[in-house]
Order: sequence, then structure tokens, then C-alpha cells
Amino acid sequence: MDSFLIKGGVPLHGEVQISGAKNAVLPIMAATLLTAEPCVIRGVPNLSDVKFMGQILTWLGAKVGIEGDTVRVHAKKIKGQGDYDLVRKMRGSICIMGPLLGRLKKARVSLPGGCVIGARPINLHLKGFEALGAKLTIQSGYVEAEAKRLVGGAMFLGGRAGSTVLGTANIMMAASLAEGVTVIESAACEPEVVDVANFLNAMGAKISGAGSPTITITGVKELHGAEHHVIPDRIEAATFAIAAAMSNGEVTIKGARADHLHAVIDKLEEAGVVVERRGADMIVRRGKKLKSSDVTTLPYSGFPTDVQAQMMALMTLAPGISIITERIFESRFMHVSELTRLGADIQIEGPSAIVKGGRPLSGAPVMASDLRASAALVIAGLAAKGTTQVNRIYHLDRGYENMDGKLRALGARIQRVDES
Ligand code: EPU
Repeated sequence: MDSFLIKGGVPLHGEVQISGAKNAVLPIMAATLLTAEPCVIRGVPNLSDVKFMGQILTWLGAKVGIEGDTVRVHAKKIKGQGDYDLVRKMRGSICIMGPLLGRLKKARVSLPGGCVIGARPINLHLKGFEALGAKLTIQSGYVEAEAKRLVGGAMFLGGRAGSTVLGTANIMMAASLAEGVTVIESAACEPEVVDVANFLNAMGAKISGAGSPTITITGVKELHGAEHHVIPDRIEAATFAIAAAMSNGEVTIKGARADHLHAVIDKLEEAGVVVERRGADMIVRRGKKLKSSDVTTLPYSGFPTDVQAQMMALMTLAPGISIITERIFESRFMHVSELTRLGADIQIEGPSAIVKGGRPLSGAPVMASDLRASAALVIAGLAAKGTTQVNRIYHLDRGYENMDGKLRALGARIQRVDES
């Protein structure tokens, strides 16, 4: 198992290119199952989750080729079942269910189960499939969906914590091949949902309203092959922006798409970070001094849960009290105890973390528990005095392309070592 050794205290300087969005590319790869024709996806990040989704598609009968940042999928013939272990390993693979149901009118997928960030139910996905006329059975850890015909319908997909990103994508994919019109109310508005809708429309689907809470899908008989370029990863861009501010450097984030980052930029500015927009790029540096800030995670266009851990790391350096409230995933605070090991003062009170900031961080060995927690520990390590060892960085490799290489190019002293 690899870990990162980070010698902190070097301000980051230079340019970093943002890769394609993990959370767009996974459902887009799944959407290729909807057609017997070949599809080409460009701007794909080199991530273990992408390779993993490639394995799932291959297992289902598709031909998958990954070359550089281009993925080609040809799902001429497919079978309707997802292997238990494959699907269970990656929660994002639940989004094969919509395409399988749309194309084959049946799907059998293992229930994904929880993970360290929270319970992660799929009740809203299932509610949507039922509204399209699918009969569902849950047995021996699998969910089976079957329909003689899929028929468009109206549905409300809001849940306990608001909308669902992959649930919305799943229903858009199944409904694209249903008869008649489907209307999703309380749909997720995330840019990744819009990207999936754009790919489906390029395949011949008729989807309007993506990016708003009401999405309308008029079913078509067949979808065809298409080519698509994935949007940049707004979470990677936010992570590098926070790293620039934490290390007290200045970084040009190329292809950052500030228009996908309004809530993050707003909070960074409130916290005393300077963010300049230059076309598709952002230039980020710390202002005169960092200030405490209160942040609550919300569905898009609110502050993303996927940037909560990184923002908390930044707030440990801002003098005063910051309150960070997590409203999407109830146990997404695994990074708190590890940040404390670096010298941060953070208390958890219900869904909130209270950060008493302004104390310098000092390096220590820490353990990564999930993808974004790992990112927070790495950027905290960059700002800490001395050496930080971040263990179990396979979590990072799931969702950040070449993070250590990109940071080294910005001047960071970070090394990948084999801890086993
Ligand atoms: N929820 C339900 N029922 C459902 C589905 C979701 O109650 O059927 C709840 C969840 O428990 C959660 C909230 O709704 O409280 C939002 O979950 P959502 O379904 O939107 O999450 P997701 O689609 O499974 C994607 C990203 C996550 C990201 C969330 C929220 C992918 C592959 N994953 O998950 O990304 O945190 O949306 O924006 O797209 C990450 O990249 O680190 C990551 C975890």
C-alpha cells in the first residue's frame, strides 16, 4: 500500500491543469450501455474508479478500450447482471442499473451498502424505476428490476438530504428509452448531471431542463453511438485552490470552470482568499490574512460536500471560530481526528464541526479514510511544519489524477512511498 511523504512549508507556485470530472465520467461510461453502437469519451481522467467502471462494462459484455484520456466503449451485446463484488466495491457503479433497465428492460445489481461517509441508501433510485413501471425485488443482497414495458411518468426524487445525483442520472438514462414523457421533480442540479444529459442527447435522447430541479425526458425507441468531452472536475479545482491558499502560494488553475464553483469561491473570498477569474482559468492566492468562516454543505448550487474536508483543513489556519455543518452525508467527519493529529483544534457537535483556527499545524503520520478526507490531509500536510505521512492513499488514486505529480510540479515536496 502506498503512502505520501510530505515535507510541508513550501508555498505552491505555477500552473496546474484540471482533469475530467470523475463524477461525470462514471455515469457517462455507464450510459454507453444504452446503445449497441460504439461511443467515444474524451477528457477522461486516469483514475482507479474509471478502470474499475471499465471492468464492470467489460464484465457486462462490452468492449472497452482506454488509451490516454480517451475511452472507447462498444456494448454491442450485454447481459443484465452486475457481479456482486465488482458493484459493491465502488458505490458509483449503481448507475449501471438505469442503462441496463432501459436497454434490456431488466437489471440485477448488488445492493451497494454503506461506506465510511454515511448510509448511502438507494431508495430514491428505486422509487424512480418503479414510477417508470419496473417491478422490484430485493433478495440475497441483490436488487432486481424488471419491466415488460417502461412507461414515462411523473416522479418526485427529493429525499431526506435533498436531491440525488446518481439517482437523477439513473432515471434519466432509463427514461430515455421508456415510452412517453418522464418528468423528474426535485432533480439534482449538479454540473455532472448536465454533462450526463448532454451525452445522452448526443446519443439521440430528448432531455430538457437538466441543471434545473425539473427535468423532462421524452423517450425514444433507440439511442445511437456518440462522442463526448467530459467537463473539468470542479472538486479537483477547488482542492487545488484551497492548497494554494493553505500553502500561501499562488496557483493558476487551468480549466477550473469558475461558473461551476460559485459557492466555493464565495466562501474562499469570505475566508480571505483572493480568486481571480481569467477566462476558463482561476488564479488563487491568500489575501492579507485568513478569516474564519461558517460553511454548510448543500446540494448544488450550494457548497459541495466533496469540498467540506478540504475547507475544514483551510479553516484550521484561520484565526477565530469556524463552524462547518455537513448536511449531505451524516458521518463525513473522518478527517477530524486526523487533522487533530496535525495540531488542529476541532470539536464535533452533531452535524457540525467547530474549528478553533489559527494554530500552526505540525507534521505527523495520518490515515486516509475516504477520498476527500485524504485530499484534506494532503493539503494540510503541505501547510504543516515538518513531515506528514498520509497512509492508504489508494483512496486518493480513486478520484484525483496524478495528485502527487501535479503538486510536485507546483513545487511541493511530496513523495509516493510503498509502506507495505
Ligand atoms: N440519498 C437517499 N436516497 C437515495 C440516494 C441518496 O436518501 O436513493 C441521500 C444520500 O444518503 C445523501 C444524499 O441523498 O444524504 C445525496 O446523495 P446522492 O445520491 O446525491 O450521492 P451519490 O449520487 O451517491 C454523488 C457523488 C459523491 C457526492 C454526492 C453528493 C458520484 C460517483 N458520487 O454520490 O461523490 O458526494 O453525489 O454530491 O457521483 C466523491 O466524489 O468523493 C463522492 C462521494
